[in-house]
This record gives sequence, C-alpha cells and structure tokens, in this order.
Amino acid sequence: MSEILKALNWRYATQVFDQNKKVSENDLNELLETMRLSPSSFGLQPWKFIVVENKELRKEIREVAFNQPKVTDASHLIVLCSKTDITEEYIKQYIKDTAETRNISIDSLKGFEDMMINFRKLHNNESIKDWAKKQTYIALGILLQTAAIKGIDAGPMEGFDPNGVDEILNLKKEDLTSTVLCAIGYRSKEDKTSNYKKVRHSISKAIETRK
Ligand SMILES: Cc1cc2nc3c(=O)[nH]c(=O)nc-3n(C[C@H](O)[C@H](O)[C@H](O)COP(=O)(O)O)c2cc1C
Repeated sequence: MSEILKALNWRYATQVFDQNKKVSENDLNELLETMRLSPSSFGLQPWKFIVVENKELRKEIREVAFNQPKVTDASHLIVLCSKTDITEEYIKQYIKDTAETRNISIDSLKGFEDMMINFRKLHNNESIKDWAKKQTYIALGILLQTAAIKGIDAGPMEGFDPNGVDEILNLKKEDLTSTVLCAIGYRSKEDKTSNYKKVRHSISKAIETRK
C-alpha cells in the first residue's frame, strides 16, 4: 500500500488525546504552512487560522462545543475561520499583493480584478459567506491529510456553536466567523475509537467512471 494510503487508513477522527504529548513547534508550523498554502477560488484566501493556546479560551470554547474534551485536551486547537464578506477593498488589496509578488503592474491585472468584483456581485451577503466557508474546508482537508502523513492525530469538529466561538474570540470585528475546529496532537491509549474500522462507501458506490 502506498505511504499516503497507509497514512489515511491510520488516521481517524481522534476523540481522546494524550494530554501529555505536545506537537513540536516545528511540526505545528509545518501544518500551518500547508494550510496557508491551500488553494482557493481566485486565490482569494477568505480565511484565517487561529491557534488557540490560551487555556481559559479553550475552556470557554469547549463549553460551546458540546463539551467535547478534545477542545481542551489535545496539544493544540486550531479554529479555521472564514471571512464574512469579500469587499471591493479586499479584492483591490489582493490585486496589489499579486502585482507586488509577481512584479507586474496593477493595470495588467484589471481584467482579473473586474472578474472578481463581478463574481462578488453575483453573490448575496449570505451566499458569499457559504462560498468562503467552502474555501476554508479545503484547508481543513489539507490539514487532515498532512497531519496523517506526519503521524499527527487530528479531530475535526463542526459540533460547536459558531456564534459562541465568534464571541469568545472576538471574530466579528475582524469580519470573520468560526467555520470548523480542529484539535491536533497524539491519540491516547484510552481512545477506543482508534480501533474502529472505517466505514466508507464501496468503490463502486463512491466512484463512477463514465466512458
Ligand atoms: C468537517 C467535519 C466535522 C466533524 N465534526 C465532528 C465533531 O464535532 N465531533 C466529532 O466527534 N467528530 C466530528 N467529525 C468526525 C467524523 O465523524 C469522522 O471524520 C467520520 O465519522 C469519519 O471517520 P474517520 O475520520 O475516523 O475516518 C467531523 C469530521 C469532519 C470532516
């Protein structure tokens, strides 16, 4: 079996973390860097990833996350946040960054800028939030995969009240909303779910080739 398939069969949504094992700073930074490098539609990166180290904040988040122990017990908690709007100002800043990074003129990117402004106009205030969340999930996927390859456990969570987390982390003022949480660390020997067999659709149910 390939290394990647081995890693993906090894990983599972970890429920109980070993409270004494910490992810090293190097490993954490590598995981975060893979998230930062995630692709997004137009490259707009409508997200921010917040590593919550503060124990009090993690306790508060746990209270609005159905008391899931991994929120406080895992080595680290990452809150994947999405932008709540894509403003023209944000698009223009992205164009500026692109021009600077690639050493090209802002004028040469006018068509790209117009395309993104039109794209925003096609959305309403709710659907743009959904769009941003979808992009953020790409980073979650990459985080889960990279963690597995590195032998780091992860527990993704949608089971929380986003309004509660937004308030705890004061996200509104940054035009952000919490989209998905991910605990990372190392599985505890006590976690019986680590032995559960994976339940997945069969290949023929999940995948179809149309010729
Ligand atoms: C986006 C997302 C949100 C999830 N939210 C939770 C959660 O809040 N609590 C939990 O215990 N598991 C959560 N899970 C774990 C899933 O139940 C788990 O990934 C799924 O059953 C497949 O099992 P596996 O990841 O162990 O292979 C979540 C998984 C994903 C991908």
